[in-house]
Amino acid sequence: MVTMDIKKLLSEMTLEEKASLCSGADFWHTKAVERLGIPQVMVSDGPHGIRKQETRADYIGLGESVKAVCFPAAATLSCSYDRELLHKLGSALGEECQAEELATLLGPGINIKRSPLCGRNFEYFSEDPYLAGELAASYVNGVQSKNVGTSVKHFAANNQETRRLSINAVVDERTLREIYLAAFETVVKKARPWTIMCSYNLINGTYSCENDWLLNKVLRNEWGFEGLVVTDWGAMNDRVKALKAGLDLEMPSSHGVTDKEIVDAVNEGKLSMETLDQAVTRILELVKRYMENKVDNASYDKEEHHQLARRMAEESAVLLKNEDILPLKEEETVAFIGEFAERPRYQGGGSSHINSFKVTSALDASKGLPIRYARGYDSLKDELDDALVQEALQCAKEAKVAVVFAGLPDLYESEGYDRTHLNLPDNQNKLIEEIIKVQPNTVIVLHNGSPVLMPWANKVKGILEVYLGGQAVGEATINLLYGKVNPSGKLAETFPLRLQDNPSYYNFPGTNRNVTYQEGIFVGYRHYDAKEMDVLYPFGYGLSYTTFEYSNLRMQVLHTEANGETIAQGSSNGSGTDMVHMKDTDQLQVTVTVKNTGNRFGKEIVQLYIHDKEASVIRPPKELKGFEKVALEPSEEKDVTFTLDNRSFAFYCTERNDWYVESGEYQILIAKSSRNIELKGTVIMEKEVPEPFIIDDRTTLGDLLPRMKDPSILFKILAGAFGAASAQESNTSEEKMMMEMVKSMPLHCLRSFSPTPVNPEDLENLKQMILSQLK
Ligand code: BGC
Repeated sequence: MVTMDIKKLLSEMTLEEKASLCSGADFWHTKAVERLGIPQVMVSDGPHGIRKQETRADYIGLGESVKAVCFPAAATLSCSYDRELLHKLGSALGEECQAEELATLLGPGINIKRSPLCGRNFEYFSEDPYLAGELAASYVNGVQSKNVGTSVKHFAANNQETRRLSINAVVDERTLREIYLAAFETVVKKARPWTIMCSYNLINGTYSCENDWLLNKVLRNEWGFEGLVVTDWGAMNDRVKALKAGLDLEMPSSHGVTDKEIVDAVNEGKLSMETLDQAVTRILELVKRYMENKVDNASYDKEEHHQLARRMAEESAVLLKNEDILPLKEEETVAFIGEFAERPRYQGGGSSHINSFKVTSALDASKGLPIRYARGYDSLKDELDDALVQEALQCAKEAKVAVVFAGLPDLYESEGYDRTHLNLPDNQNKLIEEIIKVQPNTVIVLHNGSPVLMPWANKVKGILEVYLGGQAVGEATINLLYGKVNPSGKLAETFPLRLQDNPSYYNFPGTNRNVTYQEGIFVGYRHYDAKEMDVLYPFGYGLSYTTFEYSNLRMQVLHTEANGETIAQGSSNGSGTDMVHMKDTDQLQVTVTVKNTGNRFGKEIVQLYIHDKEASVIRPPKELKGFEKVALEPSEEKDVTFTLDNRSFAFYCTERNDWYVESGEYQILIAKSSRNIELKGTVIMEKEVPEPFIIDDRTTLGDLLPRMKDPSILFKILAGAFGAASAQESNTSEEKMMMEMVKSMPLHCLRSFSPTPVNPEDLENLKQMILSQLK
């Protein structure tokens, strides 16, 4: 076993050796310092399988990589809403990394799906940062439980492929904190990833890799990240500036050029040895962590992992529609139509592309069943092929049910470019329309990495969204279609009715090298809900072959005493409509009973959203703050419990530069989807330490009124001091106008509106008088 004394090594290294460690030896290895026995280590993509390149290296997935297991992509896995499953995936990948002698797996990718057009959405989890953060933290914990590192990417605001190496994302701080950084924050705090991968783009004018605010201030100082920050492949711009900003390792190799820049900067006094030592220490820590725990001759069972990939696809598929058509019956003749039944699209293109050791299609997996197959379309073309259509129609007519395997071909979405529309290829849509005419019992199975429009949705009887299901997708699909497995996934993103409805529509992918995130925090369902827009399928939605009933909402406030002891305080009794009072420092436990009211085993994803009823800032109508997946036999019921804390209720307050919970009323929404609220509870939030109310120049009388013990006193004071109009009633339009004008008046304006002169002392006296009358 290798042991490394980092302090000692650092003291023995020359400046040149230190600088050399700060960039890769080649595409996938860090540098070794043989003189001191520092070995090189290898990293590889990620995220849903191992892409270890032994010969031709590249970062876009063109060169051959070793045979490995292709698990479902993140877009698929996120629909499982299953932390445990993600942990299992992580530990399986960790085992594979050990066997392949990899120190770090380059993933997971946790960028938020700002637009459904982003070509790389299939590699990302969700439009919701809570869901993305929770699942990614489990994945990271899983991988790292095998003493292999992860590289959580791409930090940050890398939400498109267009000009991804040079685009400047213009995003306000609240939006960054609440939407684009929040999932990273969760992973850093809950899973302590070994590394973070810095994105190519600029944020508000500064490259992520050179962004002192992003790396030093937020990531390290605020969140407590102790690992290493590595560039995305080729993202380095100014090496010395990046080091100062907290960027440790440049990948891949700079062929020595930037190493020399580092040496020169130190010699010229432009870079401190302390900053360089810090980066070198973090790189050595990565090497040490891996080398000291490396398992020699590790191996893994590929077949076992293939079965795990199948289970993951089964747990993640989303049943979008089912009008008494699914599950299929084994004795019925079924027509499988569409090339994807034979050659499924099961993963995306680019750096995540896995050289799968085997792939099973739905056709392969349906051996023994009375299935007839017709190719239906050519996935490399958009035009309808008449001969293929005729063959498909014949096949569909002669069967009891037609299952059309549709979706996005490789060309339609990939790393490296964005989509320009949400349509399926024309030939697929037309084929489906033709099939429906001859076969009323039509089901659609979808293979795609992000939302598509479904002009035929109302005319088909069933839709199963399989996303990009990994190499075992065929077996999973058959098990789901025939009811061996009950679908239990729910959407981790909204399927809009039109591309134009998406909040980023006007600002994607940007102009003049900038992309402005003008929609702010209103991303995904936060936007569709606020605008009360109809959608094709909402966030959090998915059906099952059984049914579930929610009841008995209970809330319990947990108060932590000064000595650290937690005591249960207020509680609600479970009528589902009552309320609790809590302090912003308390925790809230919410429990609900879920019952399987159908006649087959099934799993239900229970969601908890919070609605801030009295926000002083604009907030989305609801935000996901909890989810649990529960497995139930027929008639079985179980309690599901969520624990909420201060952060669950908070928004990022740019005036306080911190997360902030306001006092007032909140609603707890227990839901089957973002558009299907089953139970509601009310929380009255009070501040543990009341906020001091500060009166300044711009405080208006309207700000003061609700804070006065007796609001009429304010009018009396005003009338007394200034003889100001004091309409307290607003029955007539004139009175209303008067009232509103008085309310909008800041204190200093009283000087101009008073009939008599007002000196600064008079104003100060008035302030004091008002202060003494505040609640
Ligand atoms: C991608 C990363 C990937 C790296 C190495 C980059 O182009 O953005 O996600 O890990 O290449 O292949």
